[in-house]
Amino acid sequence: MRIDILSAIPQLLDSFLNYSIVQRAKDKGLVEIFVHDIHAYGKGKYKQIDDYQYGGGAGMVLMVEPLDRLISQLKSERVYDEIIFMTPDAPVLKQSTVNELSLKTNLIIVAGHYKGVDQRLRDLHVTREISIGDYVLSGGELPAAVLTDAIVRLIPGAMNDQTSALSDSFQNGLLAPPVYTRPPEYKGMKVPEILLSGNHQKIAEWREQQAEEITKKIRPDLMQ
Ligand code: ADE
Repeated sequence: MRIDILSAIPQLLDSFLNYSIVQRAKDKGLVEIFVHDIHAYGKGKYKQIDDYQYGGGAGMVLMVEPLDRLISQLKSERVYDEIIFMTPDAPVLKQSTVNELSLKTNLIIVAGHYKGVDQRLRDLHVTREISIGDYVLSGGELPAAVLTDAIVRLIPGAMNDQTSALSDSFQNGLLAPPVYTRPPEYKGMKVPEILLSGNHQKIAEWREQQAEEITKKIRPDLMQ
């Protein structure tokens, strides 16, 4: 898989891309991630990439031309499955979308900034828009990092124990049940007996029942 991230502040993505699962997946050759600085395609001597919005209003808007040139360049080099724009005015990211995207070959993720991006860029190139939640961040870099992390960890081989991805919260539409490790007792608090029983069938039933209870309590909206 190849992911191209387009950003006005690529430095914000550096540490995230060079650690943990993402780094491991890159080392294993499972994913290539390229970060492109939109400024490199900026206009004129000052490499301008944003401007005031027509009609007035606070905040700068990313211009269509630099991003169009950058995306057109990438598209001329290979076929992209999706060109994703991270923005709060979009459907909220769900695990099912992450699962779907983890099966793709080439993705572009555009991290917006300022007051957003000229609508014509969205109309021209963007195939999917994603929000990471009902709140506004100062830029799309963290959302792009969130999406990239969620995708990359699902690529077979990225995690040491791939089966654990299948037991994540949301994978079966429910929140994950509680987990425990050693010691069996801490400050008087015991690990539920069933988990020490060795009875895999019973353990699976217990986990399912816990997941349902927790989901009902914390996220009843998921039960519908
Ligand atoms: N950019 C700013 N806020 C965002 C959000 N919540 N999701 C995606 N992109 C964003």
